[in-house]
Amino acid sequence: MRTDTAPTILRQDYLPYPFRIPTVDLAFDLAPDLTQVHSRLTVERIHPEAAPLVLNGEALSLISIRIDGRLLSPEDYQLDDHQLTLHPDKPAFTLEIISTCRPAENTSLMGLYQSGHSLFTQCEAEGFRRITWFADRPDVMSRYTVTLRADKTQFPHLLSNGNLLQEQPLSDGRHEATWEDPHPKPSYLFALVAGDFDCREKTITTRSGRQALLQVYCDKGDYPRTAWALDCLERSVLWDESRFNLELDLDRFMIVAARDFNMGAMENKGLNIFNSAYVLADAQTATDASFEAIESVIGHEYFHNWTGNRITCRDWFQLSLKEGLTVFRDQEFSADMMARGLPDNAALSARTVKRIDDVTALRTAQFPEDAGPMAHPVRPDSYQEIGNFYTATVYEKGAEVIRMQHTLLGESGFQAGMAEYFRRHDGQAVTCDDFVNAMDSVYRQLAPGKDLTTFRRWYAQAGTPRVSVDLKHDAQAAQCVLTLSQRCDPVGVEKLQNPAVAKPPLHIPFALGLLGADGSPVLLETDGLKGETLVLDLTQTTQTWVFKNIAQRPVPSLLRNFSAPVIVEYNYTDEELALLARKDPEPFSRWEAGQSLATRCLLAMASKQGQSNTTKAATDLLAATWADIANDASLSPAYKARVFSLPSERVLLEKMSPIDPPALAQARRALRQYLGETLQDTWQTLYDNMCAALDGQDYRPDAASAGARALKNSALTYLVAATVTGALARAERQYYDADNMTDRMGGLTPLVNHAPDDVKARVLAHFYDQWQANPLVIDRWFALQATASSTTVADIQALMAHPAFTLRNPNRARSLVFQFCLNNIQGVYCEAGYAFWAEQVIALDQINPEIAARLARAFDHWARLVPKERQAIKLQLEKIMQRPSLSRNVYEIISKALTL
Ligand code: PHE
Ligand code: ZN
Repeated sequence: MRTDTAPTILRQDYLPYPFRIPTVDLAFDLAPDLTQVHSRLTVERIHPEAAPLVLNGEALSLISIRIDGRLLSPEDYQLDDHQLTLHPDKPAFTLEIISTCRPAENTSLMGLYQSGHSLFTQCEAEGFRRITWFADRPDVMSRYTVTLRADKTQFPHLLSNGNLLQEQPLSDGRHEATWEDPHPKPSYLFALVAGDFDCREKTITTRSGRQALLQVYCDKGDYPRTAWALDCLERSVLWDESRFNLELDLDRFMIVAARDFNMGAMENKGLNIFNSAYVLADAQTATDASFEAIESVIGHEYFHNWTGNRITCRDWFQLSLKEGLTVFRDQEFSADMMARGLPDNAALSARTVKRIDDVTALRTAQFPEDAGPMAHPVRPDSYQEIGNFYTATVYEKGAEVIRMQHTLLGESGFQAGMAEYFRRHDGQAVTCDDFVNAMDSVYRQLAPGKDLTTFRRWYAQAGTPRVSVDLKHDAQAAQCVLTLSQRCDPVGVEKLQNPAVAKPPLHIPFALGLLGADGSPVLLETDGLKGETLVLDLTQTTQTWVFKNIAQRPVPSLLRNFSAPVIVEYNYTDEELALLARKDPEPFSRWEAGQSLATRCLLAMASKQGQSNTTKAATDLLAATWADIANDASLSPAYKARVFSLPSERVLLEKMSPIDPPALAQARRALRQYLGETLQDTWQTLYDNMCAALDGQDYRPDAASAGARALKNSALTYLVAATVTGALARAERQYYDADNMTDRMGGLTPLVNHAPDDVKARVLAHFYDQWQANPLVIDRWFALQATASSTTVADIQALMAHPAFTLRNPNRARSLVFQFCLNNIQGVYCEAGYAFWAEQVIALDQINPEIAARLARAFDHWARLVPKERQAIKLQLEKIMQRPSLSRNVYEIISKALTL
């Protein structure tokens, strides 16, 4: 691909497509080496009169084109590597194109490709053009009929979207199946699957009394690991009915697991295709985290059926219309599942655990993105390669932007807004603005005098806003004056385009409470609001609120439940943070306070003054606070496990200037060891108590027992880190005795990080022997070694020579190469590490540009590093840039990294 001319696509250049394509008829003669596609489109001109019909197509071989049966000759059209241009002279006609493609050679996993012995498609965002020439854009919606023909023994299952119309044997050992999807859809939602599968299924009755068949297809032999997925799918259907009033609109809903898949999963209408990592699970092979991730991804793809498929995106700049909204929905689904059946207080705590995990994910991936060269608004204004914009900003920040609307409107107002959105736009391809308009129409009624005009800027503005808080207490007047000020510095392209511009203020729903010196909540009253938690509308650069009847200086509990994706700045004392961590009745802010205290300790330890007395005082205070929390019987094990997990390196790096990764890794190890030693008895007790609580129970992936295992394994890690006598032996015993993968990994992980080399080699060999037949478990084996603190570039290279390693399988590449480059700070931040990274980006780019571009982002933050590392990474960026045949994907990432 030529890259020096990669065009930039602009949102403002959007033009409607000049034709309608009401029906698409596809017939496939499927074979891995060569597949023939016969496409029959009905086409109707909209306007203008003279516009040519431009169709996208890539990596295709043309056999013939006919218009209304008449064969075209080469002078009738223009064809290049990306487009077919026709000049139809009628307002309506039938276009037939016969072409071929080569699935077995397709290592990009976009379009039609082979995985194992099966054939799959992936069309989002622009993969359909690798199957046939088409108007491959989301605002062209068509009714699809699809006939699949293939060898019957090799491909006994032939699947596509919608309903099966007929299936019959053919004379030559092949068979055919015809599917019809009654719902018009854009090409990115097309799918087919051909292969030999096991299938687990269940018929359910939807709310209106219709029967629907739910199916989960997997490779032969994986059947025992599909029960959880089918259960998650059924719960997703029920939940969307009960919480969002949205019913399944199909007679049949299929999920198929693929071993080779670029992303998590894909919401093709009625035929979701999944990375097998998000389908297959049983106690022996999957951890609690995998069970949870499967539930959330199955929910996510199912929820797209309404938010994404029934109402889709007008253009790819609107990607967050479906992704942000659907992530919000899957987050709520998981939270409701975790809180199911619990009394109020426990339910709040369970929901908070989910919120903590989601906010942690946002801070780990999106905050750094928003501060780096790829910073972009939730609704981007430009891109070179849309594949690069399936980002944490579009997904996770997009979900926060939806969540804020939920906060402003409340659950019932939000649901009214959703109903209005469907009333206006069902069956259409629309914009983020259309969504906010529907919400705004409800908001204006609910809150006279208010509207979402300022709020919309969240879609347009990149960067993480900072809100600084000033709290003054006047003892005489017995009142508090609170001032909130917001700012958002220019980021990414803004720095080039308009560095001096002052960004306008956003509408930030800011939830807060005040605590008395003993930690008891203060009843607040201001602006007609009253309660222990108030949500203030911060809409201007600076705003002030007065709270009356407050006798003593309170401690503020800020941004409760993380009510907006911002960074709060307030000068707490260490003692105030400890008070909040012990007493804040709002569980999210309580967790947050503990994290802030730990962050202070870590940043101090990572800086030159690491050894000072104030640092010592802070770490002592942290340990004392943790000891109290460990003993607090009102807190769940799952919640405690979150409290005791130190902020990750990637979250901490963002708070350092300049960034010094090795110093930080060192500080984190030291603090973990210190906490392990100081709280040794606490860890011992927690470990024993959690073992006792779980004893005698069969493994179940429910939130409560997962929480107990999380706390148990966290305690074990601290015991091992503190080199407590017997801790390694206990970890080893846990590893060998475990009856589930969570505990097995809980024992193995600290061993791999801390045990002597011979022990480590022994357990790793044992693990490999036992699990070599299961690729998802072997991914764990690679990932564990990739992230171990002593692992070097040479170790990774040795592992890449292992017969089980291949760069072609994205999960395998991620488990070793990505894990090392992204998550092994100690191993990768050195010249050899950067060189290794660049080599792998280049190697992967030849195979799979989508995956290569993700690896290319590992050092997005390079320009903020300490000078020595910065220079070394720059050399490698330049080296990649000099390659003659970079994909558009990698080119966009590296060129932005070098210029922004
Ligand atoms: N649309 C998918 C999802 O979020 C993600 C995806 C994008 C999958 C592109 C494959 C390719 O559910
Ligand atoms: Zn999605």
